[in-house]
Amino acid sequence: MSFPQTDLPFAVRRSGIQGVGGFATRPIAAGTRIVEYAGERLSPSEADSRYPEVTGERHHTYLFAIDDTVVVDAAVNGNEARFLNHSCAPNCDAVIEDGRIWIEAIHDIEVGEELVYDYAYVLEERHTAAAKKRFPCHCGAITCRGTILAKKR
Ligand SMILES: C[S@@+](CC[C@H](N)C(=O)[O-])C[C@H]1O[C@@H](n2cnc3c(N)ncnc32)[C@H](O)[C@@H]1O
Ligand SMILES: [Zn+2]
Repeated sequence: MSFPQTDLPFAVRRSGIQGVGGFATRPIAAGTRIVEYAGERLSPSEADSRYPEVTGERHHTYLFAIDDTVVVDAAVNGNEARFLNHSCAPNCDAVIEDGRIWIEAIHDIEVGEELVYDYAYVLEERHTAAAKKRFPCHCGAITCRGTILAKKR
């Protein structure tokens, strides 16, 4: 099942995790394709030069790396999918199909629940304690790993 991309089943409002997030406005069944993570397609080097890392600063972008060659920047031509937060105990997953990213429900989701997926960010550098600190997680899950970086490389 999927929703027309002009009539999405979630609304963007303030989130207890960080900034704003997306909250279900209708029940969403497990397996539903909810929204495309849309945006401008860049090469990793274009993305790096657009968003140079500032040492010691918390990281915040709307980038999603599809693979080693394509990064989607939802800050340009993106939609509401860019406001979905990360959780270490997610109810959604980001699925890549034919070079496009789709956010799909992995559990049944009730009205009012925040839609979250595991960002599993991978850095070029090692995921040291210092790196994890630059990408902290505030998802609040009992199983929170403390960072939005991927568990392992
Ligand atoms: C795609 S945006 C998500 C929307 C964001 N909350 C906002 O208000 O624009 C991604 C950024 O949100 C923040 N974020 C998302 N999930 C988070 C989490 N679980 N803990 C802390 N920050 C998070 C990080 O700064 C991340 O770089
Ligand atoms: Zn977490």
